[in-house]
Amino acid sequence: MHAVGIVAAAGSGLRLGAELPKALVHLGGRPLVCWAVESLRAGGVEQVVVAVPAPQQAAFTAVLPDDVHVVVGGDTRTASVRAALGAAREHADAVLVHDAARPLTPPDVVARVLAALAAGARAVVPVLPVVDTTVVVDGDGVVTADVPRAPLRRVQTPQGFDRATLVAAYAHAHGTAAEFTDDASVVRAAGIPVQTVAGDERAAKITVAHDLRMAELQTEWPR
Ligand code: C5P
Repeated sequence: MHAVGIVAAAGSGLRLGAELPKALVHLGGRPLVCWAVESLRAGGVEQVVVAVPAPQQAAFTAVLPDDVHVVVGGDTRTASVRAALGAAREHADAVLVHDAARPLTPPDVVARVLAALAAGARAVVPVLPVVDTTVVVDGDGVVTADVPRAPLRRVQTPQGFDRATLVAAYAHAHGTAAEFTDDASVVRAAGIPVQTVAGDERAAKITVAHDLRMAELQTEWPR
């Protein structure tokens, strides 16, 4: 199986409070985007395409390895992945879409996603259980319902897809008003079942400054 990796790295660093796009922020001396590319490769992905913000295209090209394909992303994550998908090598039969914001994803997670695709899944996501009590609140912040947590899962990346399935799902989603926060939602909206494999707490997403500090500690632990 030939797998191409897409790294969504075109977001801003707004919630992180960074002056740079988040994917260029350093962790353990290297930009987050470089960690994300390396995890995909260490897990078995061959070609990697990275979607970046237009104003910083040159800065991303300067830090990424020469054989990584850099494309300009869009205003939403979905638009960024769509742009990268257009540039992904046609003869790849699988696509793994990963967030630059999950720099410390262990290669084992990538390998589990690839193995599920090789076993015949058309779409697969790494997941973790929900450990907190989870509730619904109204507009005033008053709890209106408890949500049974046993069937709930937190969804991580990389998310893996049969290439033709993902391309068709993105074509299906084009022009709809729906807002998607990940690629599995795009595929599910096209009626394709999404399977799961075990995720990993180390694949946590860096969103706010606290997450970056936790990741810095993690880079000091033995892996
Ligand atoms: O904003 P959030 O952290 O949920 O973004 C998840 C990933 O999607 C990040 O790696 C970010 O760089 C990427 N993204 C993108 N294009 C956008 C918005 C986000 O590639 N327009």
